[in-house]
Amino acid sequence: MNQAIGLESMLRALAERHGRHNPGQDQAFGLSPPARKRCRAIAVAGGKGGVGKTTVSVNLGMALAMGGHDVILLDADMGLANIDVLLGLTPTRHIGHLLDGSCGIEDLLLPAPHGLKVVPAGSGTRRLAQLSNTEHAAVIRAFDDLVSPPDYLLVDTAAGVSDNVAMFAAAADDVVLVVCDEPASLTDAYAMLKVLSRDFGVRRFRMVANMVRNLGEARQLHQKLARVSDRFLDVALDFMGLVPNDERLRQAIKRQSAVVDLWPSSRSGQAFKQLAGAVDTWGEPERLGLDRIAFFSRQAAVANGW
Ligand SMILES: Nc1ncnc2c1ncn2[C@@H]1O[C@H](COP(=O)(O)OP(=O)(O)OP(=O)(O)O)[C@@H](O)[C@H]1O
Ligand SMILES: [Mg+2]
Repeated sequence: MNQAIGLESMLRALAERHGRHNPGQDQAFGLSPPARKRCRAIAVAGGKGGVGKTTVSVNLGMALAMGGHDVILLDADMGLANIDVLLGLTPTRHIGHLLDGSCGIEDLLLPAPHGLKVVPAGSGTRRLAQLSNTEHAAVIRAFDDLVSPPDYLLVDTAAGVSDNVAMFAAAADDVVLVVCDEPASLTDAYAMLKVLSRDFGVRRFRMVANMVRNLGEARQLHQKLARVSDRFLDVALDFMGLVPNDERLRQAIKRQSAVVDLWPSSRSGQAFKQLAGAVDTWGEPERLGLDRIAFFSRQAAVANGW
């Protein structure tokens, strides 16, 4: 057996096992850096409460998991967490335990159907609803410690445009805005675009029209928002797709299940599969500099040789 190849694969196996990679070491041995799995963090935001952010996060996450991807779903609605309730899970630990140092990120991964893993936030805890910027950054950076980073990290954000929401959204590679056909949803989505672009430098967004009747209505909604954002903000807002208003979805919520799992051929179940298919076609995310607090930034730094 060629000894150089043997040594190379042994080093890579070791680096993989420890979840770390030292490019300097590779160079010392004259090896090219191994191809690492790139994780994509997708934040689901919306501004207004009740527009379907959690519903989209849970079902899109599960649809991606059903498609064979490794997916983690972070409940970033700190203090009012409800992903665990939506999926009928009973967490014993949450983000609060990570922050007080009593557990690591791996200990928080809660198994859900189809291999999806959930990182729960605590509920009814004022402290979690009022995290400092340093604590937000600590939660975001904790994902760098995952032994096996996922293909996708979906981040369900809270209502509003507070720092709490904006920091999590800006730390992701992509921001999906959930909008429904109500004036307040449109104005809140616009406020979110404004805050994230002006204060956090986010330039690209994708929009999901939720609780609409058909594609025409969804596209109209997108045009309404894009017309204003094109005029007043320096952002790109792409149309990602729609989720119809579906009684089956509401029934699934009552049964504490994702509709895409319980009734995959329902109208909303199909819609979530289509949205997951759209995610699969996205090109490489733009990688911003190291000064930014971002999910998987250590991994991006290694990949880019920073
Ligand atoms: N496509 C849909 N069809 C039918 N009902 C829907 C749909 N999307 C959301 N809903 C309804 O809207 C409710 C609120 O949805 P969800 O909890 O996902 O909103 P949210 O934006 O996460 O709210 P919050 O801001 O409070 O976190 C759901 O419980 C469900 O009853
Ligand atoms: Mg929610």
